Amino acid sequence: MHPRIRGLARVRATARCGAALPAAVSRASSSKAKAAPPEVVFSGIQPTGTPHLGNYLGLFLPFLELQRSTPASTPVYLSVVGLHAITLPQDPAALVRDRRNMLASLLACGVDPERTTLFLQEDVREHSELAWFLNTIAPVGRLQRMTTWKSKIATARNANSEDEVSEEDLRLGLLSYPVLQAADILLYKSTIVPVGEDQVQHLELARDIAQVFNRAFGDVFPVPETRVVPQKRVLSLRDPAQKMSKSAPNPLSRISLTDSPKDIATKVKGAVTDSTATITYEPDTRPGVANLLTIWSAFDEAKRSPAELAAAAHADGWGAGKLKAAVSDVVAAHLAPVQDEYRRIIADEGYIRVVAAKGADRAREQAAKTMAEVRAAVGLGGI
Ligand code: AMP
Ligand code: TRP
Repeated sequence: MHPRIRGLARVRATARCGAALPAAVSRASSSKAKAAPPEVVFSGIQPTGTPHLGNYLGLFLPFLELQRSTPASTPVYLSVVGLHAITLPQDPAALVRDRRNMLASLLACGVDPERTTLFLQEDVREHSELAWFLNTIAPVGRLQRMTTWKSKIATARNANSEDEVSEEDLRLGLLSYPVLQAADILLYKSTIVPVGEDQVQHLELARDIAQVFNRAFGDVFPVPETRVVPQKRVLSLRDPAQKMSKSAPNPLSRISLTDSPKDIATKVKGAVTDSTATITYEPDTRPGVANLLTIWSAFDEAKRSPAELAAAAHADGWGAGKLKAAVSDVVAAHLAPVQDEYRRIIADEGYIRVVAAKGADRAREQAAKTMAEVRAAVGLGGI
């Protein structure tokens, strides 16, 4: 068997049982004791829809904390990933608007374009190029076992109306989505990738692809570390069994970063809780109330935990009504300056374009270097 293929089979087997990588795979890096690769932070977000409180607490704030806390010598990248967005049908005009809105939202929330290389993925062609190279070593079976792909298949299987796609019609780009994500990460030789829990499987694939590539072609990529954001999931306000999501049909289920204080109050007031009169923090049995306490805690200036806030509310004899009023006040107060900033930035399209162009130029410097190494390693460099 070709050594490359053998490498894939081994990595796949370990990925399934979750054990450490076998000696054969890690040999390339352990044979000579090498210094740890320099740290590089990378994360990505799709430009689909207006970001909501789940995105804010689950990705934006943890990312901002990394932006603040990493030494200035550590490169930090944040990419708005349009090439991922088009793996599902998008309205072109809406996509232009959404890409601009996402950049403006990130800037308004505090992404500093001097410190962080903030850019549009599609502006740096090397993402597509590396994705192709990685497609040539990515195992199809593994991609077919990805939860996101399987959920699309399940939806397609249940399709009963004519305009929904059947399994046969599912697109290759959707299957290959995680390979493009691996390319995003590896292009910058990233070592720290902050993501929410739902992305862990994609990150594991990126790690495995890096190792398979290195084993076949020499050490080009450091193996990236997944840094799962510890933040609790923010749940839907209408159905606390689901997470808050951009794609849920009911807009009352989520608080968008651009919602007015009035909208926030209406949505929180309508949040599904339960019939118990007092406030307690019991995420398993009272997820609706726990979700409100989690949101409150994330914005609490005194940094009290959800349980501490519940105890305080309990001591004061609060019911759900008072809790909801407190939560909407604290969310609206926190979002007000972000929204002022957002309005200022979104009105200045020229500024957004300059930030995107500068970010892409900076990203391209590293991307071009990595691609030159990759081409040479594979035998498609000079002739
Ligand atoms: P998405 O909106 O699904 O494109 O997610 C973008 C990022 O936000 C991912 O890193 C998610 O893990 C995070 N995220 C999305 N929804 C939530 C949520 N309800 N609670 C916490 N984090 C979330
Ligand atoms: N798939 C990620 C999501 O839906 C977005 C993403 C694309 C990403 N490329 C990435 C996240 C690279 C981290 C690193 O949230």
